Amino acid sequence: MFNYPLHRPRRLRQNATIRTMMREYSVTANDLIMPYFILEGKNKREPITSMPQIERLSVDLLITELHELIPLGLKAIALFPITPLNLKDDTGSYALKKDNLICRTITQLKNLFPNLLIVADVALDPYTSHGHDGILDNTGYMHNDQTVDILVQQSLNQMQAGADIIAPSDMCDGRVKAIRNAFENYNAVNTLIMAYSVKYASGLYGPFRDAICSSGQLIGDKKTYQMDYANKTEALNEVNLDIQEGADIIIIKPAMMYLDIIRQTADNCSVPICAYQVSGEYAMIDFAAQSNFAPRQDLILESLTAFKRAGCQLILSYFTKEFLKFNN
Ligand code: PBG
Repeated sequence: MFNYPLHRPRRLRQNATIRTMMREYSVTANDLIMPYFILEGKNKREPITSMPQIERLSVDLLITELHELIPLGLKAIALFPITPLNLKDDTGSYALKKDNLICRTITQLKNLFPNLLIVADVALDPYTSHGHDGILDNTGYMHNDQTVDILVQQSLNQMQAGADIIAPSDMCDGRVKAIRNAFENYNAVNTLIMAYSVKYASGLYGPFRDAICSSGQLIGDKKTYQMDYANKTEALNEVNLDIQEGADIIIIKPAMMYLDIIRQTADNCSVPICAYQVSGEYAMIDFAAQSNFAPRQDLILESLTAFKRAGCQLILSYFTKEFLKFNN
């Protein structure tokens, strides 16, 4: 309709002030959730080879870090425990111990930082000797309903320990409904469920499996429960089911290669969406930054902004800590 020279779109880009005011999407500390890998013990810090700058931390060191990051605007963290090999078994039984590492950590952090939101993952892979998210039959197929019964117990323990948000990442059918019903029975009406509704069987989880020390043990793959990355309509189905079952927030994971899925979900559903920028995405961007083809901060901001533009409200990202530092 309008044409050059009446319209010169570059007028809106001519300086930083105008660009800032015209910006449609931006990332703030309020959007971000920082994942942490937790070690048993005191004063322990271990590097994760495939995730440079990310470390496994014992709780005392995590507490020191939180004292630094909360004043910078940190609002929420997600916790993943490292389980020593001798506590792992076929059924992931350590997941159900009420005084296990994750439950103790949640309680301790909640007492110290009552306003910090704590997201607790629900799945058995940090606890099983075979590295799967649930229990297996003798052909190696993951039992659905038996796994769900265990996940409900795990969720109740983590809720009772003080978790604000329970995040089932197992991809079993019906688990959101089972957890929601259990919470209602316990009168835990305000515990949020942030369901990993759309979780693809992705090669990008490799560094995470290193981080929780489950990669060496994983037998086979997770394709009978995580989604086929060739599917898009199926994602809507999973999201709708989880919303009907009582999910408050839904997660889409991975994020960077699945922006179309985030947008499709935002266009079709009205619940908040959380994009999970997974470990492999972290590693790829870190690698790119190390090769110096663009400044690290620029790559981080570009990726986080893309998630907001695609339509999510929240972002789980290992870059949260760095973002808080360079954004303050
Ligand atoms: C497992 C779980 C995984 C991640 C979060 N929860 C890995 C998997 O499914 O194997 C991956 C997160 C990441 O790669 O950062 N329940």
